[in-house]
Order: sequence, then C-alpha cells, then structure tokens
Amino acid sequence: MVKIEREIPIQIDPGENPFLRGVFAPIATEITASDLTVIGEIPKDLDGAYLRNGPNPVHRPRGRYHWFDGDGMVHGIEFHDGKATYRNRWIQTEGFAAEQQAHRSIWPGLMDRPDPAVPRGAGSDGWLKDTANTDIVFHNGYALALWYQCGLPYKLDPRTLETLGVERFGGKLARAVSAHAKVDPVSGELLFFDYATKPPYMTYNVVSRTGELRHHVDIDLPGSRLPHDMAFTENYSLLMDLPLFWDPQLLERNVHKVTYYPELPSRFGIIPRYGLNADVKWFEASPCYIYHVVNSWEEGDEFVMDACRVIQGEPNAKRGEGELARMRAFLRLEAQLWRWRFNLATGAVKEEQLDDAKTEWPTINRHKMGRKSRYAYNSRVPHYEGLVKYDTVRGTSESYLFGEGRTSNEAPFAPRVGAQDDTNDEDDGYVVTFVADANAQHRGEVIIIDAKNFAAGPIARVQIPQRVPTGFHSIWIPGEQMRA
Ligand SMILES: [Fe+2]
Repeated sequence: MVKIEREIPIQIDPGENPFLRGVFAPIATEITASDLTVIGEIPKDLDGAYLRNGPNPVHRPRGRYHWFDGDGMVHGIEFHDGKATYRNRWIQTEGFAAEQQAHRSIWPGLMDRPDPAVPRGAGSDGWLKDTANTDIVFHNGYALALWYQCGLPYKLDPRTLETLGVERFGGKLARAVSAHAKVDPVSGELLFFDYATKPPYMTYNVVSRTGELRHHVDIDLPGSRLPHDMAFTENYSLLMDLPLFWDPQLLERNVHKVTYYPELPSRFGIIPRYGLNADVKWFEASPCYIYHVVNSWEEGDEFVMDACRVIQGEPNAKRGEGELARMRAFLRLEAQLWRWRFNLATGAVKEEQLDDAKTEWPTINRHKMGRKSRYAYNSRVPHYEGLVKYDTVRGTSESYLFGEGRTSNEAPFAPRVGAQDDTNDEDDGYVVTFVADANAQHRGEVIIIDAKNFAAGPIARVQIPQRVPTGFHSIWIPGEQMRA
C-alpha cells in the first residue's frame, strides 16, 4: 500500500552536475508505504528503524549546486514482526520553510560567494541555508537531524519522521551543533562541538540523557578550522584541529577556499567529559584530514581511536576543470582505516595504518560506542560498489559487492533482538542499507545482511516503491527504545 503524502515539483535543471543526476537526482514525493515486496525474508528479530539523512534539493540553485547544499530529506524503514514500512519526509528547517514560501532559492550554496543581501543563514560563517541534511542521531526519544557545517538540531518523530522544531536543550543551546554529535550508549548523554570563523573558534558541549545542556565550554584553537567529527570514551572526549581549513587570508576577504597545510601537524585535543579548556591535553600526529571516526576507547593510560584517514589531504582536481572537478575530487573521500594511541600519562602518540583498502562511512554496534570494539562496517570508496566488514582484533576483512550499477549508502548495524551485549558476540545482528541502482529509476531497495555471514550478501531485499537518492549518514534505532 502506497500513500502519497505530499508532492513538491523539483525545479532544477541538472545540467552536467553529477550530484543532480542518476542515483543523486532529487525526488518529488513524500510517501508512506507498507506491505512491501521482499525478496527473501525479513528476520523477525530485526526490530526497529533505519533512518537515513541526505540532500534532496527543491529549487533551482542560485549558482552552482554542491552535493552538501540540498534540502534535507530523511528516508526511514521500520521493521517489526517480519514486516516493513517505509516513509520519507523533507526536514522542515526554517530555511526550507522560507524558500517554500518564496518559491525560489534564497541562500547561495557552498560553491558560491556569500551574499550580504540575504538574511543571515547558518554555518560556521553564517551565510548558508541550514538544511539539517547530514547526520541523524537518536537522543532522549527523538531523532535529531544535524547539518555538516554547524546548524540547529532539528527534532524529528523517529517513526513518522515529522519535523517537531528546533531542539534547544532546555533553552540552553548557545550556538550550534556540528554534523557529528555522539550519544553515549551507557549514560545517554549527547556530546557535541561546533566551530566558527570568529573566536571562540570551537565550543564543546554535553547534554544530559533527558535533554538538558549541562556543559558548554569554549575551546582555544589557533584559528578558524573545519573539523568534521569527534570521538569519546567513558571518561574523555577528543576534538580535532586538522590542517585542512579555509585559507585565513582569503577568509578575511570573504572568500572560502578549503586549503590543505601539510606543513602543520594534526592536533588532537583530549578533554575530560566535563573538562574545561585548560584541561585539554593536545597531541600532535602526522598531518591528515579525517571525516569519520570509527570508534574510540580507553586502554590503561591510552586513548585509542580508529578512524578513516584521508589519503591525500588536498585531492588533485585537474587544472582547468574548474570548481565542479574540485568538488568531485574532494567528495571522493578516499581514506584508509588507521589507529591512533594517545598516552595521557606520557604524552606519547603512536599511529598505524590498519588496512590499505579504501573505505569510509564507518558504522559499529552502537552498544560499543566509547568502549573497546572489534567490528566495523564500512563502504568501499570512491565507487561505493560494496561494503567491508572489518575485524580489527584479527586484522581481517570480508567484502560484499552489490553488483553492476548498484551502489551503497552508509550501512548501520542493527543488533539482533535478544543479542547478548558481549564483546565476543558484537556482530550478532544485521547490517542494513539502501542500495541505489542506476538502472532502476522508479524504485529503491533496502538490503539486510546477516553480519555473521557478511560475504554471503543479503538475506532480504526490501523493495521501495520509489527511488531513494544516495545520501549521507544514518542510524539504527532499536524498536524498544523507539517505542518507549
Ligand atoms: Fe559526515
């Protein structure tokens, strides 16, 4: 059964922009669909919802469209008792509502120049539309949609996906939230940072399990930075000062050019969960950029972090191919699995590459967040042709490839209902993901893989009666938490 909830005609000529065509092209309808066709069988002990955020632009861009610019849309599939229900909804941000009313794009995009004539927007420099299109986390009973360049967290009903407004954490949200906030699975606290082009260049924040902002501190950085993710353990959080940021001289002239500075080290600041700026211990490591952390934990005096380390800080866009080529080069996200060890007692840093395959978009069993974990589920990059399951204890990996024309999205891990929260059985569950098929213009698909039998591929392929464009981050919300 398919119910069309809303239709908003897409008013965009994709031209040559690859992020408006094929598997990236936006869709015009919000639907609710149940009784979905399944190839294989949905396991009855898969219970909960897989929500995935991503861009779905409505209006013709003012200038050039960047993949990160599109209006946020969440696609969700809820599994219960062997059945599935799919929904998709735009995220009703203030920027989205203003443009719906104006029937046009108001704000420029990432590849444009700021426009002083438009209302102040969001982002670390305040000139973009807050689309909330990047990550989605589950905290205090709600899904929070977050935006990559620091925006307001938008609260969504995790089942209906309706936007419920801005979450201001008991009225105490002082600035914004970056793309990747973290929820401690044991304490239920939400940890986040934000960054800005003017001091304070970074803030660090802790929100209680029940949604009250409890801790907010300014973090000293040597200048404006563009960190994407953070890490945490039971007692500490880790903040990043990496040598990829807007050229400071050009920034003074309001020109935003992302530049890599290989002569600078990577700096990692470790702060006690409720620590102050003076408590931050800074560690230096080899220069790099990191989009996504896999996980981190404590081992004796060491803070251990696994993350996807970008291979080439500033990718080579061929000269003369212009900004579009530069965007494509940056968005290739070519990275490898690395491990850093920061010794809090001695100040020593060790870093090592764990694998030479190119993978990104890591997920783990969320019960292990901040605690020692063994398995990670990454996407193969830059072509997204399959998924990799890492066993970081044995140092092995297994792959599953989707097949010709089929590409991945981030694939969260869904613990099996009744699974023991035990290190040895950390992979007792399923990996779920939307697969985009270049040859299927009118349907989408969610695949379910048994994580213990990963290379065998999906045990179920759930057919979605509309295309699901490739997007960004996702989450698995266990049914017992979602329906609590
Ligand atoms: Fe991200």
